Amino acid sequence: MATPSTQTINRRSMRLDAQELRKDFPIFQRTVRGGQRLIYLDSGATSQKPRVVIEEESNFYSLTNAAVHRGAHQLAEEATDAYEGARQIVADFLGAKLDEIIFTKNATESLNLLAYAFSNSEPSGRFHLKKQDRIVVTEMEHHANLIPWQQLAKRSGATLAWFSIDGQGRLDLSNIEEVITVNTKVVALTHQSNVLGTINPLTAIVKRAHEVGAIVILDACQSAPHLEIDVATLGVDFLAFSGHKSLGPTGVGVLWGRVDLLEQLPPFLYGGSMIETVTMAESTWAPPPRRFEAGVPNMAQAVGLGAALNYLNKIGLSRIHEHEMELTEQLLLGLSENSDVEIFGPNNLEMRGEVVSFGLANIHPHDLGQYLDSRGIAVRTGHHCAWPLNRRLGVNATTRASLYLYNDSLDIDALIEGVRGAQLYFGAR
Ligand code: ALA
Repeated sequence: MATPSTQTINRRSMRLDAQELRKDFPIFQRTVRGGQRLIYLDSGATSQKPRVVIEEESNFYSLTNAAVHRGAHQLAEEATDAYEGARQIVADFLGAKLDEIIFTKNATESLNLLAYAFSNSEPSGRFHLKKQDRIVVTEMEHHANLIPWQQLAKRSGATLAWFSIDGQGRLDLSNIEEVITVNTKVVALTHQSNVLGTINPLTAIVKRAHEVGAIVILDACQSAPHLEIDVATLGVDFLAFSGHKSLGPTGVGVLWGRVDLLEQLPPFLYGGSMIETVTMAESTWAPPPRRFEAGVPNMAQAVGLGAALNYLNKIGLSRIHEHEMELTEQLLLGLSENSDVEIFGPNNLEMRGEVVSFGLANIHPHDLGQYLDSRGIAVRTGHHCAWPLNRRLGVNATTRASLYLYNDSLDIDALIEGVRGAQLYFGAR
């Protein structure tokens, strides 16, 4: 069972001891760039993995490997139990029902699955889109939650519309009724921006969307690993997140959907396991979630994700979030003391998460990223797969630090100091 080492929790204060916690993650035993400590500030791109996750995935292959839902033998039974057990862990993690959890390859696939399944809807179906209809997104989507909807709009003839952002990197909802019109069928938005760190106010959006009968799809890639999620409280209709950003393996993602909607949703991928009956001429579909899991699924990765979510649960998402917010505050304060730094996104902690993107006068983010790397600091530089948002911000690229439970205040000091070092190194100060 996935458990954090007992040393990881400073029980007196109940604050996270990130230094102890890092002992659970094999990667932190290595050094980088000539023996320096790894300061990993790129968890928004992918998180590191605790040993229990790596072991759980490896154990699946070593001890129980067999194709789930098929064989009559002991291994197949054990593999099926492990896979379905992981589904239950994910369901509990989201406050969802077991049959509402679909395993995919990643969140990108979850969102594409939905967009293609909508396309496969019969003209009389709940999910059919036509020329007069509207799909609404936001200007802060990363490509995974923009391009599938652009393409669905092209296939169906529907109009793509979007919410803009204000100067603080928050959604401008002042014209919500003009953006989510009565013709809107889909509203797809991110819970937390992967560039700005903004956490979006869902209540007003969900209320308006449901008033007009639209389906709300939440991209929770950057929120599910960091915030307690309860799908009933959020009120959305579908939600996607990735395993690899949540301490889990690569190659596994989740699509959650309300069971009454999943029951009406046509499949996207066809093949074994997703059928009810098959003749040479016709087939019918299994109920969800199997209707959406064609072929032998990513069993070991799903089991690894189960171990990751157990690990997060043991530590507690609210404690993780609190820890990250302390570090985010330290980072925002430290960066704002440097007059050459421009922070993109909210500069206070209100409704924001642990992602901080910034620019540095006269130094290109790629140069800054390389310089920080020379000091053992891993950040992401570029457009962060959110090109339209970068255009809106008036930049080609930014430098992004994204934090997680294994970061501590020394990591933040190192980044702030590294930024100053870069200014001296490049003679930009
Ligand atoms: N969307 C991922 C990121 O923000 C890839 O890095």
